[in-house]
Amino acid sequence: MEKLYEGKAKIVYPGPEAGTYRVYYKDDATAFNAQKRGTIAGKGVVNNRISAQLFRYLEAHGVPTHFLRELSEREMLVRQVEIVPLEVIVRNRTAGTFAKRYGVEEGRPLARALVEFSLKNDALGDPLIYDEAALALGLLSEGELARIRELALRVNEALKAFFLERGLELIDFKLEFGRLPDGTIVLADEISPDTMRLWEVGTGEKMDKDRFRRDLGGVEEAYQEVLRRVVGGAG
Ligand SMILES: Nc1ncnc2c1ncn2[C@@H]1O[C@H](COP(=O)(O)OP(=O)(O)OP(=O)(O)O)[C@@H](O)[C@H]1O
Ligand SMILES: [Mg+2]
Repeated sequence: MEKLYEGKAKIVYPGPEAGTYRVYYKDDATAFNAQKRGTIAGKGVVNNRISAQLFRYLEAHGVPTHFLRELSEREMLVRQVEIVPLEVIVRNRTAGTFAKRYGVEEGRPLARALVEFSLKNDALGDPLIYDEAALALGLLSEGELARIRELALRVNEALKAFFLERGLELIDFKLEFGRLPDGTIVLADEISPDTMRLWEVGTGEKMDKDRFRRDLGGVEEAYQEVLRRVVGGAG
């Protein structure tokens, strides 16, 4: 089947029915705007299965998503959407670029959950964008912006609780949203250890792509352990 799009982590193919896509999850890993490249063995399987599980969980918690069903170990069927060209980042503790930008240590709890936006533009390095600028550029409407913020915070509350029951703290994560043909905003793309920071409760051990970014070792093991906890249930 002909590829529609090959990104850094996934390949998008036409789906079996009109208005659907088949998304294939690769083992390729990139970091720092693709300046660092590598592979994480088994990552595609882990991320497909974790994303599927989390999309199902979020649907049950009032968040509409693009997810339809799993097709294979590495593939899911999703609804085709028009991606809103923003990366929607939700933060509970300081980490990564946020900590660097404001000169604070990593791991400081934020007084309130923060929703940040960056422009989806690899050539520009996905720059931070004010919501006023996104509106002025016509990237989305005011109603869509309010809806995305509401859904992002709902995802945060649901996922924080989900992971805490599994001994993991949700530090921050990136979401992408899209429009269905009727204009409905739904959660799209993926939710996986590539797109979240998860720290082990108690030890603070990193269980996400920071192990790859920072050469901490045990990358595959961390991804497998997150999958085990996600599918294994609470406790
Ligand atoms: N339901 C959907 N409908 C249409 N496009 C989607 C959907 N879900 C995800 N996408 C898009 O499919 C692509 C998935 O590929 P991948 O995550 O590998 O891209 P990427 O390398 O991160 O690049 P970028 O996100 O900058 O395009 C992304 O461009 C993502 O925005
Ligand atoms: Mg991506």
